Amino acid sequence: MSGEELDCKTESFGFRAGLGGESRSVLVYCPTKTLPFREDDITSHGWNLTRAGAWGTARAYMDRLGAGVGIVCLQDANEKEITEAEALLGYGNSRFRWIAILDLAFLKSAVANHLISECCLDFHVVPVDVPRLLHSLGHALGMANLSRVRPQQSVENRFEKNIVGTSQAIKATFRRIAKISQSDAPVLIQGETGTGKELCALAIHAHSSRTSHPFVAVNCGALPDKLIQSELFGHEKGAFTGAHQRKIGRIEAAEGGTLFLDEIGDLSLDLQVNLLRVLQGGTYERVGGTETMHADIRVIAATHVNIEKAVGEKRFREDLYYRLNVLNLEVPPLRAREGDVTALARHWFDMFAAEKNPQVRGFSRDAFIALSQHTWPGNVRELINRVRRAMVMCERQLIGPEDLGLDYVGSYRDVPVEETLAEARERAEREAICEAIEKSGGNLSRSARSLGVSRVTLYRLLDKYQIAHRLPRD
Ligand SMILES: Nc1ncnc2c1ncn2[C@@H]1O[C@H](COP(=O)(O)OP(=O)(O)OP(=O)(O)O)[C@@H](O)[C@H]1O
Ligand SMILES: [Mg+2]
Repeated sequence: MSGEELDCKTESFGFRAGLGGESRSVLVYCPTKTLPFREDDITSHGWNLTRAGAWGTARAYMDRLGAGVGIVCLQDANEKEITEAEALLGYGNSRFRWIAILDLAFLKSAVANHLISECCLDFHVVPVDVPRLLHSLGHALGMANLSRVRPQQSVENRFEKNIVGTSQAIKATFRRIAKISQSDAPVLIQGETGTGKELCALAIHAHSSRTSHPFVAVNCGALPDKLIQSELFGHEKGAFTGAHQRKIGRIEAAEGGTLFLDEIGDLSLDLQVNLLRVLQGGTYERVGGTETMHADIRVIAATHVNIEKAVGEKRFREDLYYRLNVLNLEVPPLRAREGDVTALARHWFDMFAAEKNPQVRGFSRDAFIALSQHTWPGNVRELINRVRRAMVMCERQLIGPEDLGLDYVGSYRDVPVEETLAEARERAEREAICEAIEKSGGNLSRSARSLGVSRVTLYRLLDKYQIAHRLPRD
């Protein structure tokens, strides 16, 4: 290796296929001139070193290789170097395995602690123990290669981690997302409020070839006309009062990636013209600027209003509508996703576990019935809010319909809902207790005997299922 910084060496990029015959390449990010180890100590063991002194060079290498091994050297790192290292370690995908080399003083800092624990496989303190570094490199290469041979996932469970649901309707959505992400054409996502339009846009981006570039979201409805112009296209210094310096617009920020235009139906007619130009010719100007900018972005737009109606009423340009609506995704409302409500309630219960009232353990059977009977005008967002509120407010072990702010209509026997083994056991236990008490005319000693438990155990169970207060004491 010669010079302070080399361009990526194409000949060292290619991993030979499989776990055994890999090329032993390692990217070394070192912002200072001197490496913290002797190059020969590493290369003499069959490793090719590619050095990057700046983030741009490292990024090009990572894009080419997809997965690999990297060493990040941070001695006396200044703020800029730390920011670059953070960008590098968190870049794009998790298929690069990193080893940090740093000095003892920096190791003790909070920022180093965070970087290493979150992003690195191993770390070494200078002076570097070469045999241990070689061992780390071998380990990192093994891990990186494992990430290359991940088992193939089915289309559906590729999305299930973030988009909860197993209904036919959501599975059809997963299949559409998979197809849409293979293309680079504009997408229009439609669906009621809170159905998960943004989540689907993120899934499309994450599974597209643009995944290692930014996903930038703009809510067209939340910004006043004047601001949205400069928000989207950026502005030059002095373009208007208060424009003290040049500002990069969201289109520019999304370069190489995806621009998500939420609530597109709220965009003013003026801005619709400008956006049409970007979609047609890929060009635009910053506000107050004369330079023609070229945009390499994929546009995904979303709306919960009936955009076809807006076109009919001339509130939305027909030509823009056709430009955006090349691919279309209709996100189904929650009421059309049979069985997903309980799965979503459980998922969000786990997500908010840290903030719940400590004694709250889950949902009562009645709660699940109430959840499946509700029509969900606010869809998943409404469900999340109800679950979160109930977890904080509920004063018993099991969340009931009243904690969710829902009316409970009818008997649970009428409504088929999914049940876990634990819930089935609890329901059977509860029913057996109620039956025994009813048969004994409310006499707890006799009930306990017929159930084959002690009175103390019965009291505990009455308390657990909160049925004690309804009974006459014996
Ligand atoms: N299938 C799902 N699984 C898990 N979480 C979901 C699902 N669908 C939506 N959510 C969650 O519901 C919330 C609303 O989703 P999102 O913002 O994507 O909806 P939206 O359709 O864009 O809403 P709006 O119309 O209000 O803009 C988010 O917190 C999202 O994470
Ligand atoms: Mg949204």
